Formats: sequence, C-alpha cells, structure tokens
Amino acid sequence: MVINPHAYAEWDGLLDTFDRLRKEAPVSRVEPEDGELFDPFWLITRYEDVMRISKDNATFLNNPRPVVFSFREAIEFSRAATGSNMLVDSLVVFDAPIHPKYRRLTQDWFMPRNLARMEGEIRAIANRTVDGLIAAGPQADFVKLVSGPYPLHVVMQILGVPEEDEPRMQMLTQQLFGGQDADLSGTGMENMTAEQVVQLVAGAVKTFEEYFAGIAAERRANPTEDVASVIANATVDGEPLPERDMAGYYIIVATAGHDTTSASTAGAMQALAQDPEQWARVKADRSLLPGIVEEAIRWTTPVQHFMRTAAEDVEIGGQQIKAGDWLMINYVAANHDPAQFENPRKFDASRSPNRHAAFGAGAHQCLGLHLARMEMKILFETILDRVESIELAGEPKRATSTFVGGLKTLPLRFRAG
Ligand code: HEM
Repeated sequence: MVINPHAYAEWDGLLDTFDRLRKEAPVSRVEPEDGELFDPFWLITRYEDVMRISKDNATFLNNPRPVVFSFREAIEFSRAATGSNMLVDSLVVFDAPIHPKYRRLTQDWFMPRNLARMEGEIRAIANRTVDGLIAAGPQADFVKLVSGPYPLHVVMQILGVPEEDEPRMQMLTQQLFGGQDADLSGTGMENMTAEQVVQLVAGAVKTFEEYFAGIAAERRANPTEDVASVIANATVDGEPLPERDMAGYYIIVATAGHDTTSASTAGAMQALAQDPEQWARVKADRSLLPGIVEEAIRWTTPVQHFMRTAAEDVEIGGQQIKAGDWLMINYVAANHDPAQFENPRKFDASRSPNRHAAFGAGAHQCLGLHLARMEMKILFETILDRVESIELAGEPKRATSTFVGGLKTLPLRFRAG
C-alpha cells in the first residue's frame, strides 16, 4: 500500500493503515509484489523512530536510494549513463563529507534575515495571483489559479527563470516527482514500463541541465542577489562546482520548492473553507496566521516519505536492521502519530507545540522551510485582505503520488471584499 500512489489519494484509508501498523508493527517489512523493480524495505511509522533516523545521518544514509521509486533499473541506467547512482546528484543524494560543503553554499541565503529582502517581491506575486483569482470569481479552482502557480512564480523568480518558461519547468517537475498522477504529468506515465519511465525522467533531467547551464553562464557574467547567482559563482574546496553538480543544485531547488508549498497552501485554504468560524477569527486577528500555516504543513505533509540506507547493524523500535537495509521514513505516518499529536486528523491551528516532521530533521532538514512559511504567510495575508468569504464548491481531489502529494483540485466559491 505504501508504494501504491493511489493509496495516497485515498487519505483516510492510508491513515487507518498507519494507525494499525504503529500499534502492531511500527517497523514493518515491506516486500513489494513487484520485487523485480523495488528492493524490500522497512516501513517506519512512529514519530519517535522517524525523528531518530532523520537526525542520525551517520547511521542512516541518503545515498544511493533516497526515494522509494529509486528502481534498481534506474540506478543501473544512471550508473551506465553518468557514472553516478542517480540521474541527478544533489543535496538529497549526498551524504557527509560532501553534503555539508554543498549545503553551506546556500544555507545563509535561505535564512530569514536574507529572505526578508524578498518580502516586497513575494507580496507583489501574491497580489498578482489573487488578482487572477478574483477576476475568475465567484467560483474557481484554487489549485489551478493560486496554490499551483504562486510558489512556482516565487521559486522561479529566485532562480532567475523568466515567466514564459514556467509552464515548461512545471511540466518537467511533474515528470521528475509527480509523474505518478496522469492528470498532472500529462505523460500517461502510469501506463509506462519501468524502462520507459527511466527514459522519460532522464530526458527531463537533460532538459533541465541544458536550461540551467544557460542561466549559470549568465549569472557568472552578471551576478545578481538571487540564489541562481550564489550557485553559479560558488566554489567547493577552492574549485567551481562541476557542471553536473551545479545543474543538480538548480534542479533540487526548482523541484523541491514549489509542489511542496503548493500542497500545504491548498491544504490551509481547504481547512479555512471548511471552518467559517476559523476564517472569521483569523480575519480579525492575524496573529493566528502562523499557527494556521504550521498546522497546514503538518496536516497535509506534502513530502510523504524519504528513504535511508543503514550504514551498520542497528536496532529500531525493537527490530533488528542490518547494514545495507533500506528504510522508508514516512512523514505522513509520523505526523499522524497520536503519541505526539492529540487527535492528529483534526486541523487544529492552536496546536502548541507543533513539532511536526513535515520538513524532516537532521542534516537534510528542508533548506527552504523559512521560505515556505514566509510565502504562505504573505499569500494568506493578501487573501484575508482581499477576500470576504469562502466556501467549498465541490469535492477536493488528491493527487496519486507516493512522494510529493496533496490536492490537485480545490473548487471554491468566494466573495471578494
Ligand atoms: C528537503 C519538505 C518547501 C528546498 C526537504 C525534506 C523535506 C522537505 C521533508 C527532506 C528532509 C530529509 O531528508 O530529512 C518540504 C515541505 C515544504 C518544502 C513540506 C513546503 C511546505 C521547500 C522550499 C524549498 C525547499 C520552498 C526551496 C525553495 C529543499 C531542499 C532540500 C529539501 C533544497 C534538500 C535539503 C538537503 O538534503 O540538505 N524538504 N519542503 N523545500 N527542501 Fe523542502
């Protein structure tokens, strides 16, 4: 079930399964039916265990299989084509000692002090996006008009990608990450063989690489203050980044930075649309907004899992894990663990503390977490200023994806204020 993308579209059933597993087998062996494609792995469902593994980066490695669709075939194809285990080498694939050197390059750029400079630009993007929503009113799909395009505009802005190229970037991201949903990828990937999928992903990576090589060259000639310039001009051990690593850096920021925030933004709107009292409260008192943003990130858990490989024999939750074993740290399961969150399926903006696992933890903790929170806060301030009332105008639908998931439609009826 955890490797079936459709299970993630039927949320309550998935959460029921995690509840049962947490009680009966919190570290359970998954032997994929299609053993030809996937290696077996341990599924980790308790919050405590997910956090312990995330924080112990010496014992639990990201390389070479950081996500569940690291098919054996993809690894072999990649080794033959690139000499590396992955088609894209990036922060999520590196372990120490390389990982901290690469992470350090942009860490400061993503801190709140630096991001504050961007507030005006982000607010302008938020206003333009809400203009589009209001123009389409009184009924519209929030995902299509707001939560989809807004984070994409922001991340493309920091990467120096002009607006006319955004749809192409969106499509390529879907092919890399969300390709399991036929509606979203537009590729019919669901019906492809593993080999065809690997070829498609390899093609998407190549297009990304060529595109960002152009941006890097431009930023070396004319540096600006954006993150694209930081990456283009970075050095590691005194040397500029190899082309492939530079492309990998752009790709990880481009891809990690929008569908994730789109999902938590749509979730926050869904929660507000379903609870008019909460909408009224936050309209009157904006100090409630950070609590709504944080709870939306927990409640939606846009990044549903990452994988780790054990570097040595180790025990987790009473289960013996062997060196080389593969583990799925399931953030959805962790964020719905009643031992950590009271009444976890409830959207409760007053949850405090709300130490959710949605951004991960340890050395790989989300690099963009401050940006994600800031984007959501600015967007909802704009919406609360400009929209009087909202309600659901149909059933929201979830995407089928095992990795980055969330709503793919959120029909709303609203009145501009
Ligand atoms: C890593 C979640 C938004 C950039 C991660 C990880 C998670 C995550 C779970 C992996 C942690 C681990 O392996 O331990 C999210 C969520 C987001 C979000 C839920 C929105 C609500 C963003 C944004 C950006 C971004 C806006 C950048 C613009 C990254 C990068 C990494 C990462 C570069 C890799 C970090 C590393 O391996 O060192 N994110 N993310 N993310 N995220 Fe995010």
